[in-house]
Amino acid sequence: MCGIVGYLGKRDAYPVLIKGLKRLEYRGYDSAGVALITDQKELRVYKTKGKVSDLEAYAQDKDTSGCAGIAHTRWATHGEPNSTNAHPHISASGNLAIIHNGIIENYAVLKEGLQRNGVTFQSSTDTEVLVQLIDYIQQKRNVDLLTAVRMALRQVIGAYAIAILDKNDPNKIIAARKSSPLVVGVGEDEFFIGSDASPLIEYTDKVVYLDDNDIAIIHRGEPEAEFVNFNNEKIDHEIQTVDLNLGQIEKGGYPHFMLKEIFEQPDCLQDCMRGRINVDANNVVLSAVIDYRKELINARRIIIVACGTSWHASLIGKQLLENICQIPVEVEYASEFRYSNPVIDSSDVVIAISQSGETADTLAAIELAKQRGAFIFGICNAIGSSIPRATHTGCYIHVGPEIGVASTKAFTGQVTVLTMLALALGKARGTIKNDDYVALVKELNDIPEKMKKVLEQNDRVRDISRVFTYAHNFLYLGRGYNYPVALEGALKLKEISYIHAEGYPAAEMKHGPIALIDEEMPVVIVATQNPLYDKLMSNIQEIKARKGRVIAIVSEGDEKVKALADEYVELPHTIECLEPLLSTIPLQLLAYHIAVCKGKDVDQPRNLAKSVTVE
Ligand code: AGP
Ligand code: GLU
Repeated sequence: MCGIVGYLGKRDAYPVLIKGLKRLEYRGYDSAGVALITDQKELRVYKTKGKVSDLEAYAQDKDTSGCAGIAHTRWATHGEPNSTNAHPHISASGNLAIIHNGIIENYAVLKEGLQRNGVTFQSSTDTEVLVQLIDYIQQKRNVDLLTAVRMALRQVIGAYAIAILDKNDPNKIIAARKSSPLVVGVGEDEFFIGSDASPLIEYTDKVVYLDDNDIAIIHRGEPEAEFVNFNNEKIDHEIQTVDLNLGQIEKGGYPHFMLKEIFEQPDCLQDCMRGRINVDANNVVLSAVIDYRKELINARRIIIVACGTSWHASLIGKQLLENICQIPVEVEYASEFRYSNPVIDSSDVVIAISQSGETADTLAAIELAKQRGAFIFGICNAIGSSIPRATHTGCYIHVGPEIGVASTKAFTGQVTVLTMLALALGKARGTIKNDDYVALVKELNDIPEKMKKVLEQNDRVRDISRVFTYAHNFLYLGRGYNYPVALEGALKLKEISYIHAEGYPAAEMKHGPIALIDEEMPVVIVATQNPLYDKLMSNIQEIKARKGRVIAIVSEGDEKVKALADEYVELPHTIECLEPLLSTIPLQLLAYHIAVCKGKDVDQPRNLAKSVTVE
């Protein structure tokens, strides 16, 4: 899901490509590479693990000539970050170079077929399969590159934005997209390609945004790029003018990465579920549960270790796994677990949850659990990071790089994977009725669309936030699946607005916190129509009786709570155990807008790091 840059024209391509990669660095990545073609049809590829600056150092004393080239920053999904798996990938014939953003879901099947026909592979990526397939078709069918690309893409299932060079035709670049963004920039006798407009905006403001299943053919010397579909039918695209400045564009037009990542959540959850949920077959398939079925379904107990937001996701995971799989689950702060001399053995499964995959306390907890014989399952976002490498197996959440220090899309990605894990395990153990299983699979698949309806209330939440910037303390309340959501909402507010906030189970209010309630203490309560609704209504009455001001997260159409609360945000109805995926969003937005109103550095809050790699 990272960065693509291409150039074809009159300039030296290398400086344009490197500068373009640096414009895309904000997207987060683990390796970088470049392919260049000279007019003498020489194809050169330089690629390294690490930063763009490492690539520059590597290529410093090498021949980087050529007026045509492609470049890539990789966010690994298949194959750990290293120089072999970095892009561009070269075809077996040595003629083609490809760069790719996205995931080829059926890469394994395609790879097996090519290997049966004698094709050998250099990397363990899904991307290399695509360039080898195109090359194989071109050689075997003796067809031109465009035909081979069209025939290959017809066989591909997944998401891609690709650019391909053919050393036998240095005056052409072919690009294509499906689900991963790609834009073509049109200059004076030169063309640019980018994952977004940021790599090309300093050279031209004339762009064409590719649609899904578009193939772009760029010829040096032509006034415009040509676009066709898989059937080679010409597609007309009007050239648009980019009116964003560079600073904005790196955030996709959003003022902060955090807001961009909050709004990305529907798409990210689709990426997270892609290839794992099959609604037609009413099924959830997690390869880790297939490969390690025995260890997982026979677990005597599950212990989840994590920190911060990931620990809040763990609390939701506990309820999901206990309710759907009937396995006892304990949730531990990794920092406490690692020093607690825990009583665990080989009949236990330990799940480690971490967005960064580098949190020191979580890594240490894993090592301790492994020493005591437990089976370790990881749920991480950063591919190939330390925690996934330390576990026996796991699931990546595939939400793409999370840049904002305050975790948002990773949280909902973690909860989504935990839900899919509970469903897969519950079905394998026979502890969930089939009707319930089918209903949950369908509703989980529909959640991204429901998330979009919640996000449509962003302006409402912004207006609410302006009323409460005076507060020095907030109380967040929730019950059942929404108790961890209250904790997470409080953490979001604390870490970016520096307002003290506490999350509590709503019923606990009477055991102390109610002493805090007065007109100076806003209370955020998740009061949706779930089995404990009447109890939540009583909690709201208790708060109002003490002049507390209530911001309620309510179910759509709930006039009773709306009449009682000072402010409210409505959520679409969903199944109770999936509600955190929706109820979290207004709390993310509330924290964001309060912090912005207070002029805080939302993406880089004081004292905080995106990944706590020290104790
Ligand atoms: C959450 O917004 C914070 N950034 C922090 O609590 C974070 O969740 C915690 O440090 C754990 O990070 P990890 O998920 O990368 O392990
Ligand atoms: N799936 C490809 C890989 O793992 C591309 C990842 C990306 O989008 O950067 O190499």
